[in-house]
Amino acid sequence: RVLAGDPRDLVGRHVVVSAGGTREPIDPVRFIGNRSSGLQGYALARVAAARGAKVTLVAANTALPDPAGVSVVRVGSALEMREAVQSVAAAADVVVMAAAVADFRPSVFQGSKIKKTDKNETLPIELVKNPDILAELVTRRTPGQVIVGFAAETDDVLDHGRAKLARKGCDLLVVNQVGENLTFGAPDNAGVILAATGAEREIPRGSKDQLASAVWDEIAALLA
Ligand code: CTP
Ligand code: CA
Repeated sequence: RVLAGDPRDLVGRHVVVSAGGTREPIDPVRFIGNRSSGLQGYALARVAAARGAKVTLVAANTALPDPAGVSVVRVGSALEMREAVQSVAAAADVVVMAAAVADFRPSVFQGSKIKKTDKNETLPIELVKNPDILAELVTRRTPGQVIVGFAAETDDVLDHGRAKLARKGCDLLVVNQVGENLTFGAPDNAGVILAATGAEREIPRGSKDQLASAVWDEIAALLA
Protein backbone atom coordinates (compact mmCIF):
# COMPACT_ATOMS: atom_id res chain seq x y z
CA ARG A 1 0.00 0.00 0.00
CA VAL A 2 1.27 3.38 -0.95
CA LEU A 3 0.63 6.54 1.01
CA ALA A 4 -2.26 8.63 -0.19
CA GLY A 5 -1.16 11.89 -1.73
CA ASP A 6 2.19 10.80 -3.14
CA PRO A 7 2.95 13.37 -5.85
CA ARG A 8 3.47 12.22 -9.45
CA ASP A 9 6.85 13.92 -9.52
CA LEU A 10 8.89 11.05 -10.96
CA VAL A 11 7.06 10.70 -14.29
CA GLY A 12 9.58 10.24 -17.10
CA ARG A 13 12.35 9.23 -14.68
CA HIS A 14 14.08 5.85 -14.69
CA VAL A 15 15.19 4.76 -11.25
CA VAL A 16 17.14 1.72 -10.08
CA VAL A 17 16.70 0.40 -6.55
CA SER A 18 18.67 -2.47 -5.02
CA ALA A 19 17.15 -4.44 -2.17
CA GLY A 20 17.73 -7.46 0.04
CA GLY A 21 20.99 -9.01 1.10
CA THR A 22 23.63 -10.75 -0.97
CA ARG A 23 24.70 -14.33 -0.33
CA GLU A 24 28.30 -15.29 -0.87
CA PRO A 25 28.63 -18.97 -1.77
CA ILE A 26 30.98 -21.23 0.23
CA ASP A 27 30.08 -24.54 -1.40
CA PRO A 28 26.99 -25.83 -3.27
CA VAL A 29 24.88 -25.88 -0.10
CA ARG A 30 26.24 -23.01 2.01
CA PHE A 31 26.65 -19.26 1.91
CA ILE A 32 27.55 -16.23 4.01
CA GLY A 33 24.50 -14.00 4.28
CA ASN A 34 23.02 -11.17 6.29
CA ARG A 35 19.75 -10.18 7.93
CA SER A 36 18.33 -7.87 5.29
CA SER A 37 14.71 -8.71 4.41
CA GLY A 38 14.42 -6.36 1.45
CA LEU A 39 11.36 -4.61 2.90
CA GLN A 40 12.88 -1.09 2.82
CA GLY A 41 14.15 -1.50 -0.75
CA TYR A 42 10.79 -2.84 -1.91
CA ALA A 43 9.06 0.12 -0.25
CA LEU A 44 11.40 2.48 -2.14
CA ALA A 45 10.58 0.73 -5.43
CA ARG A 46 6.84 0.72 -4.75
CA VAL A 47 6.72 4.40 -3.81
CA ALA A 48 8.82 5.41 -6.84
CA ALA A 49 6.44 3.53 -9.14
CA ALA A 50 3.46 5.21 -7.47
CA ARG A 51 5.10 8.58 -8.11
CA GLY A 52 5.34 7.76 -11.81
CA ALA A 53 8.90 6.46 -12.23
CA LYS A 54 9.97 3.58 -14.41
CA VAL A 55 11.52 1.33 -11.77
CA THR A 56 14.08 -1.46 -11.99
CA LEU A 57 14.43 -3.35 -8.71
CA VAL A 58 17.55 -5.47 -8.31
CA ALA A 59 16.58 -7.90 -5.58
CA ALA A 60 19.02 -10.14 -3.72
CA ASN A 61 17.51 -13.16 -1.99
CA THR A 62 14.21 -11.62 -0.97
CA ALA A 63 11.02 -13.54 -0.23
CA LEU A 64 8.61 -10.77 -1.20
CA PRO A 65 6.07 -10.48 -4.04
CA ASP A 66 7.14 -8.39 -7.04
CA PRO A 67 5.73 -4.86 -6.62
CA ALA A 68 3.16 -4.02 -9.29
CA GLY A 69 4.52 -2.16 -12.29
CA VAL A 70 8.15 -2.69 -11.28
CA SER A 71 10.71 -4.61 -13.34
CA VAL A 72 12.46 -7.04 -10.98
CA VAL A 73 15.93 -8.52 -11.61
CA ARG A 74 16.90 -11.28 -9.16
CA VAL A 75 20.50 -11.79 -8.08
CA GLY A 76 22.35 -13.85 -5.50
CA SER A 77 25.90 -12.69 -4.76
CA ALA A 78 27.53 -9.27 -4.56
CA LEU A 79 29.28 -9.86 -7.90
CA GLU A 80 25.93 -10.70 -9.52
CA MET A 81 24.40 -7.58 -8.00
CA ARG A 82 27.25 -5.47 -9.35
CA GLU A 83 26.65 -6.86 -12.89
CA ALA A 84 22.90 -6.28 -12.70
CA VAL A 85 23.14 -2.77 -11.25
CA GLN A 86 25.85 -1.65 -13.66
CA SER A 87 23.90 -2.90 -16.67
CA VAL A 88 20.96 -0.60 -15.85
CA ALA A 89 22.62 2.27 -13.96
CA ALA A 90 24.08 4.13 -16.95
CA ALA A 91 20.60 4.86 -18.32
CA ALA A 92 19.08 5.71 -14.93
CA ASP A 93 18.34 9.14 -13.44
CA VAL A 94 18.60 7.76 -9.91
CA VAL A 95 20.26 4.75 -8.29
CA VAL A 96 19.36 3.87 -4.70
CA MET A 97 21.53 1.20 -3.09
CA ALA A 98 19.28 -0.08 -0.32
CA ALA A 99 20.70 -3.61 -0.52
CA ALA A 100 22.99 -5.05 2.13
CA VAL A 101 25.99 -6.02 0.04
CA ALA A 102 28.51 -8.42 1.58
CA ASP A 103 31.84 -6.70 2.11
CA PHE A 104 33.71 -9.99 1.67
CA ARG A 105 33.22 -13.31 -0.13
CA PRO A 106 34.99 -16.66 0.27
CA SER A 107 38.17 -16.51 -1.81
CA VAL A 108 37.44 -19.92 -3.30
CA PHE A 109 34.14 -21.62 -4.05
CA GLN A 110 34.38 -25.31 -3.12
CA GLY A 111 32.69 -27.15 -5.98
CA SER A 112 31.82 -30.10 -3.73
CA LYS A 113 30.16 -29.98 -0.34
CA ILE A 114 32.73 -29.45 2.41
CA LYS A 115 32.76 -32.55 4.62
CA LYS A 116 33.12 -32.67 8.37
CA THR A 117 36.28 -34.63 9.02
CA ASP A 118 37.54 -36.25 12.23
CA LYS A 119 40.86 -34.44 11.93
CA ASN A 120 39.83 -30.81 12.08
CA GLU A 121 38.24 -28.90 14.96
CA THR A 122 38.36 -25.62 13.05
CA LEU A 123 37.64 -24.72 9.44
CA PRO A 124 39.16 -21.43 8.34
CA ILE A 125 37.45 -19.80 5.37
CA GLU A 126 39.49 -17.11 3.69
CA LEU A 127 37.54 -14.06 2.57
CA VAL A 128 38.39 -11.49 -0.09
CA LYS A 129 36.93 -8.03 -0.39
CA ASN A 130 34.02 -7.45 -2.75
CA PRO A 131 33.91 -4.42 -5.02
CA ASP A 132 32.05 -1.42 -3.55
CA ILE A 133 29.15 -1.07 -5.99
CA LEU A 134 28.06 2.31 -4.63
CA ALA A 135 31.55 3.80 -4.80
CA GLU A 136 31.90 2.52 -8.38
CA LEU A 137 28.58 4.11 -9.32
CA VAL A 138 29.83 7.44 -8.03
CA THR A 139 32.96 7.24 -10.20
CA ARG A 140 30.77 6.54 -13.27
CA ARG A 141 28.03 9.01 -12.43
CA THR A 142 26.33 10.51 -15.49
CA PRO A 143 25.51 14.26 -15.55
CA GLY A 144 22.62 15.05 -13.21
CA GLN A 145 22.37 11.47 -11.94
CA VAL A 146 21.42 11.15 -8.26
CA ILE A 147 23.10 8.37 -6.27
CA VAL A 148 21.82 7.33 -2.86
CA GLY A 149 23.28 4.96 -0.28
CA PHE A 150 21.92 3.40 2.88
CA ALA A 151 23.92 2.69 6.01
CA ALA A 152 22.87 0.49 8.87
CA GLU A 153 24.91 1.20 11.98
CA THR A 154 24.78 -0.28 15.47
CA ASP A 155 26.38 2.65 17.30
CA ASP A 156 27.57 6.26 16.81
CA VAL A 157 25.04 6.25 13.98
CA LEU A 158 25.35 9.87 12.91
CA ASP A 159 29.14 10.14 13.17
CA HIS A 160 29.62 6.95 11.18
CA GLY A 161 26.99 8.11 8.70
CA ARG A 162 28.59 11.50 8.08
CA ALA A 163 32.01 9.93 7.58
CA LYS A 164 30.55 7.30 5.26
CA LEU A 165 28.74 9.89 3.15
CA ALA A 166 32.01 11.78 2.67
CA ARG A 167 33.91 8.58 1.89
CA LYS A 168 31.37 7.27 -0.62
CA GLY A 169 30.77 10.54 -2.44
CA CYS A 170 27.07 9.87 -3.02
CA ASP A 171 24.41 12.61 -2.96
CA LEU A 172 22.35 11.23 -0.07
CA LEU A 173 23.02 8.66 2.62
CA VAL A 174 20.14 7.33 4.69
CA VAL A 175 21.40 6.11 8.05
CA ASN A 176 19.51 3.99 10.49
CA GLN A 177 20.22 2.17 13.68
CA VAL A 178 20.09 -1.61 13.58
CA GLY A 179 20.23 -4.17 16.32
CA GLU A 180 18.73 -7.42 17.52
CA ASN A 181 15.11 -6.38 17.10
CA LEU A 182 15.52 -3.15 15.18
CA THR A 183 14.83 -2.64 11.49
CA PHE A 184 15.70 -6.08 10.05
CA GLY A 185 12.48 -7.71 8.93
CA ALA A 186 10.47 -5.12 10.86
CA PRO A 187 7.64 -3.20 9.19
CA ASP A 188 8.89 0.10 10.57
CA ASN A 189 12.05 2.12 10.34
CA ALA A 190 13.51 5.47 11.38
CA GLY A 191 16.56 7.29 10.20
CA VAL A 192 18.32 10.43 9.15
CA ILE A 193 18.77 11.48 5.53
CA LEU A 194 22.22 13.03 5.20
CA ALA A 195 22.90 15.14 2.11
CA ALA A 196 26.27 15.93 0.53
CA THR A 197 25.29 19.59 0.95
CA GLY A 198 25.43 19.09 4.72
CA ALA A 199 21.66 19.16 5.16
CA GLU A 200 20.28 16.54 7.55
CA ARG A 201 16.65 15.49 7.86
CA GLU A 202 15.48 13.26 10.66
CA ILE A 203 12.69 10.84 9.78
CA PRO A 204 10.76 9.71 12.85
CA ARG A 205 9.85 6.06 13.33
CA GLY A 206 7.11 5.11 10.93
CA SER A 207 6.36 2.66 8.15
CA LYS A 208 9.04 1.79 5.62
CA ASP A 209 6.77 3.41 3.00
CA GLN A 210 6.91 6.65 4.99
CA LEU A 211 10.70 6.59 5.08
CA ALA A 212 10.69 5.77 1.35
CA SER A 213 8.45 8.77 0.62
CA ALA A 214 10.76 11.09 2.53
CA VAL A 215 13.77 9.75 0.62
CA TRP A 216 12.00 10.31 -2.72
CA ASP A 217 11.08 13.86 -1.61
CA GLU A 218 14.78 14.62 -1.17
CA ILE A 219 15.72 12.90 -4.44
CA ALA A 220 13.00 14.76 -6.37
CA ALA A 221 14.32 18.05 -5.01
CA LEU A 222 17.82 17.19 -6.28
CA LEU A 223 16.45 16.20 -9.71
CA ALA A 224 14.47 19.41 -10.07
N1 CTP B 1 27.61 -1.03 -0.68
C1 CTP B 1 27.92 -1.39 -1.97
N2 CTP B 1 28.85 -2.36 -2.22
C2 CTP B 1 29.49 -2.94 -1.19
C3 CTP B 1 29.20 -2.58 0.13
C4 CTP B 1 28.25 -1.61 0.36
O1 CTP B 1 27.33 -0.84 -2.90
N3 CTP B 1 30.40 -3.86 -1.46
C5 CTP B 1 26.61 0.03 -0.46
C6 CTP B 1 25.38 -0.41 0.29
O2 CTP B 1 24.39 -0.87 -0.59
C7 CTP B 1 24.96 0.87 1.00
C8 CTP B 1 26.27 1.62 1.22
O3 CTP B 1 27.21 1.03 0.33
O4 CTP B 1 24.15 1.67 0.19
C9 CTP B 1 26.78 1.59 2.60
O5 CTP B 1 27.00 0.27 2.98
P1 CTP B 1 27.72 -0.03 4.35
O6 CTP B 1 27.87 -1.50 4.51
O7 CTP B 1 27.02 0.73 5.43
O8 CTP B 1 29.13 0.69 4.12
P2 CTP B 1 30.60 0.13 4.03
O9 CTP B 1 31.36 1.11 3.21
O10 CTP B 1 30.60 -1.28 3.53
O11 CTP B 1 31.14 0.22 5.50
P3 CTP B 1 30.99 -0.78 6.78
O12 CTP B 1 30.23 -2.00 6.37
O13 CTP B 1 32.40 -1.09 7.17
O14 CTP B 1 30.28 0.04 7.82
CA1 CA C 1 29.48 -3.00 4.52
